[in-house]
Amino acid sequence: MNASEIRQKYLDFQQSKGHKVVAPAPLVLENDPTTLFTGSGMQPLLPYLLGQPHPAGTRLTDSQPCLRLQDIEDVGDPRHTTVFEMLGNWSLGDYFKEEQIRNYFEFLTEVIGLDPHKIYVTCFIGNEEYGIPKDTEAAHIWKQVFKEAGIEAEICEMGSAENGDKRGIKGNERIFFYDDHENWWSRGGGIKTTPIGDPCGPDSEVFYDFGEDKQDVERYGKSHPASDGARFMEIGNQVFMQYKRNEDGTFSELEHKNVDFGGGLERLAAASMGSFDVFKISLMKPIIEKLEELSGKKYENNTDEMRIIADHLRGAYLLSAQGLVPSNKAQGYALRRLIRRAILKALDLGIAQDFLAETISTISAEYNSLPDSILTHREEALSVLEKEEKTFRSTLSKGLREMQKMVRKDADGVLDGNDLFKLQDTYGFPLEVSVEQAYHENIPLSKDYQKEFDAALEEQRNRSKTASKGMFKGGLEDHGEMSTKYHTATHLCLAALQKLVSPDICQKGSNITADRMRFDFNCDHKLTPEEIKAVEDQVNEWIEVDLPVQFDEYEKGYARDTLKAHGQFWDKYPEKLKVYTIGDFDNPTSREVCGGPHVEHTGVLGKFKIVKEESSSAGVRRIKAVLE
Ligand code: ALA
Repeated sequence: MNASEIRQKYLDFQQSKGHKVVAPAPLVLENDPTTLFTGSGMQPLLPYLLGQPHPAGTRLTDSQPCLRLQDIEDVGDPRHTTVFEMLGNWSLGDYFKEEQIRNYFEFLTEVIGLDPHKIYVTCFIGNEEYGIPKDTEAAHIWKQVFKEAGIEAEICEMGSAENGDKRGIKGNERIFFYDDHENWWSRGGGIKTTPIGDPCGPDSEVFYDFGEDKQDVERYGKSHPASDGARFMEIGNQVFMQYKRNEDGTFSELEHKNVDFGGGLERLAAASMGSFDVFKISLMKPIIEKLEELSGKKYENNTDEMRIIADHLRGAYLLSAQGLVPSNKAQGYALRRLIRRAILKALDLGIAQDFLAETISTISAEYNSLPDSILTHREEALSVLEKEEKTFRSTLSKGLREMQKMVRKDADGVLDGNDLFKLQDTYGFPLEVSVEQAYHENIPLSKDYQKEFDAALEEQRNRSKTASKGMFKGGLEDHGEMSTKYHTATHLCLAALQKLVSPDICQKGSNITADRMRFDFNCDHKLTPEEIKAVEDQVNEWIEVDLPVQFDEYEKGYARDTLKAHGQFWDKYPEKLKVYTIGDFDNPTSREVCGGPHVEHTGVLGKFKIVKEESSSAGVRRIKAVLE
């Protein structure tokens, strides 16, 4: 069964169970302060999950295109994509666990014909700290459902995924209890990082077993549903959305208990054809075939590049067909980034000519079934993408001209590591791109170009470290490259703490060197390992989506009252001051009064890691963090 058939069968099946089909929401969100793109099917339904009556009733279903930029680095493996379609069904205070579990099992085994022996499931083990009980109800319903299918399913208390990696599966175990990292769902992830005011709850996930031989035990440990290995793939998540997070961090029961189900269409299609590679399904195949044709290379030998290009072009098409244009603002920048990454990966495959329009035509045909209300700019999409491709290629060829100039100036006509460093540092051409371009243009590289490049980089780092000694300007010890990066990382760190730990957190002190940042802030408790991890992940996500950084000068009152900039010393600030905004100007990720300097976009920061969290003084915590 191909993906379009599965989509249709799912919607038909849910209708037969009394659900109304609702139109999916746009991928590009205009006025949502929490996120740039729709990342799950429940997102557009938030008010209804919190109790507002939905005009279509209490049983809804749809297929929602989603974009999760936070997964961008995982793309390249057989199952991760940034863009995917999420099949969804909801009970708004209507049916609950039993009907949901029975219906989904029926859909999987009877409608799309999956072998019930290949289905494994997980449930929530409970959390004492927050008084959330273990979901024995869901586990027992599953046990009964399997029994009716002739399968003796044992229950196992796995606890954490790490334990699973060590322990693996024993005997007839098929139903697994895990902690909140696996089986609690909120838009913020685990139980502690659930956003204030959001609906949430324990979930029960459904997995497909591709066989023990798919598990790379050496790399991922023994196989079990929550392992990162390839034996099991999640093909559905049933969230029993019965709580809401309160201002004080506790949870209270919602008046109506909801079900929020989401299942990735691409993964279901892959499971239904027995392929653990989602890039082999009908929605992806034409793109991969086009890439094989253009590059003259086989998918089997170039999986990573082809998966990345296929994924990013799908995302780029969906965004531009909804009227988004590439820009340096948050959402437009995400689109620009997808396009550029795809073009660079195509260069790796030897595709150096314009190829977007041609390749995307194979995608747009398969997306024709999405409603016009979503794809409002189908007609313009291709030309917008073509234009961006041309612009980027001209930037690339500017780099090439510089490269040729360098070679001409050089007595031996060779491009060495210093030249390559200059191309990266001054003209913004990453080493890999220059090397690729040089190869295409038959420009010889010096034998030790990598070593020379590394030495030039090291030398620059040392220069900025030396510069950091002795100088002190506006809280910054130097204006060297690394400290500038740390300065921006400090703003992101504060924004993440405010978002995930408490909105009342303020900066109580900061000290930056070229090697690390130190940041003090008010907080009534020692950060838990989960909070530390959540803050790190959040900062890294903002780095990953490469938010623009901009500043301007404003009157003090305007900065404080209208722009709502974060500042500590309003009494002491001068009448005119500088405000830095990270992210979308109208909907900023961070906005602070600050003298700067900062990087121009967050993507250059590298990986953010908190290396220490300690007490600084009463009620003040101190974080030390590095950029790697
Ligand atoms: N909202 C749930 C998810 O995204 C179904 O997994």
